[in-house]
Amino acid sequence: MSKKIVLGVSGSIAAYKSLNITRLLIKSGYEVKVVMTPAAARFVSALSFSTLSKNPVFTELIDQDTWSNHVDLGLWADAFIIAPATATTLAKLANGIADNMLIATYLSAKCPVFIAPAMDLDMWKHPSTTFNISKLESYGNKLIPVGIGELASGLNGAGRMAEPADILGYINNSLNVEQDLIGKTVLITAGPTQEAIDPVRFIRNHSTGRMGIELAQECGSRGAKVELILGPTNLEIEHPSVDVTPVISAQDMYEATISKFEHSDISIFCAAVADYRPKTKSKSKIKKSESTFSVELERTPDIAMECGERKTKNQTTIGFALETQKGLEAAKYKLKKKNLDIIVLNSLKDKGAGFKHNTNKISIVHRDGSINEYPLKTKKEVAKDVIDTLISLS
Ligand code: C5P
Repeated sequence: MSKKIVLGVSGSIAAYKSLNITRLLIKSGYEVKVVMTPAAARFVSALSFSTLSKNPVFTELIDQDTWSNHVDLGLWADAFIIAPATATTLAKLANGIADNMLIATYLSAKCPVFIAPAMDLDMWKHPSTTFNISKLESYGNKLIPVGIGELASGLNGAGRMAEPADILGYINNSLNVEQDLIGKTVLITAGPTQEAIDPVRFIRNHSTGRMGIELAQECGSRGAKVELILGPTNLEIEHPSVDVTPVISAQDMYEATISKFEHSDISIFCAAVADYRPKTKSKSKIKKSESTFSVELERTPDIAMECGERKTKNQTTIGFALETQKGLEAAKYKLKKKNLDIIVLNSLKDKGAGFKHNTNKISIVHRDGSINEYPLKTKKEVAKDVIDTLISLS
C-alpha cells in the first residue's frame, strides 16, 4: 500500500517549489494531500496542488461555514512534511497557535513530522527562530536543513528551502523506503524501437515502456543512479535519480546502451527491441504501384547479448522474455545465450499480462533452473518483485 503524505505549505516564495515536491512524491508512489496557509495560497494556487496531487486541497479551517476536519487529515497521514515552513509558521508550530488548518492538522497528527524552513538570512539567524527550531526538534519533529545560496531578498546565505529532490531523498530515507541500491548505477532499456522504411513509414511493436519506467522509478527510489534508455513512447517519467536518453531505432538504443554499459553495476534489458529492420531506408516516400510490395529486412544488433559478452563478474544483468508459446524453454535458452543472471518471463497468454496493460504476470527464472511464479500484479508491484529478487542475488 502506498504511503500517505500530508504536505503543509506556508507563505514563502519557496512555495512554488512545493509543486515540484508534490510531483516528485506522486511519481515516487506516495499518496499526497496538501494543506496550505492562507498566505501560501497567495503565492501558489490551490488548484495547482489539487491538479498535481489529484486530491482536494485544504486552505481554511472553516470553509463557507463548514468546519474542515483537521483531525481526520492529521490521522490519515503516515508523514507530515511542512515545506516551506516560514518563520511565522515555525513560531505557531512551536507554540501550538492553531489559527489555520496547517497548524491544526499538525497538532492532530501522530505521524513523523518533517520541517523544511525557508526564510531570509537574518530571519534564519534570529534567536527567536533558533529557539523555535530547537523547541520543535525537542518535540521529536525532524528538521530538513536549509540550503545556502541566493535568497529572494538578493542576499546570499543560509535560509533557502532544501531542494525538492533532497526533500524526497530525506523522506525516503526516514520512512525506511528500502535504500538498498545506494551507490549503484542501474542501466535500463525500455519501450519499443522504431525502424524506418521511408521518411513516413516505420515498423514498430506494441510496447509502451511502462514496465521499464516502473523499474527505473523503483531503482531510483531505492537509491540507485538510473540511466534509462527509452524508445519512442507517450509515457513520461520524471524522477530526480533517473536520467533518460530517448532513442528511436534499435541501432540508437544499441549505441546508447553500449556507451553506458561499462559503468553500470546492474543492467535491465526490458526493451522490446525490433529483431529486424529494413535493409535500406528510402530517402523519399515510396509511391504505391504494384499490388504487392516487399521490404527486405536485416537483423538488428542484440543489445543484451552484446552486453552479456562484455559483462564482468561485478556486473549483474536481467533480461525479459515475452513469449507466446513454450515460454519456459525459450526463457531458459535466452538466459544462457545472453549470459543473464535472471530472466523475467511474461506470457501473452496470461490475461492482463504484456503490452498495453498496467498489470503483468511474471515468472522469474534463475540460472540454476529454479523458477519463482507470481500472481497478476500492477507493473509497479512487479518492478518491486524484480528488484527484490535482484537484491537477493548478492
Ligand atoms: O530474443 P528476445 O528478443 O526474445 O530476447 C529478449 C531479451 O533480449 C530482452 O531482455 C530484450 O530487451 C533483449 N534484446 C535486446 N536486443 C535485441 C533483442 C532483444 O537487448 N535486439
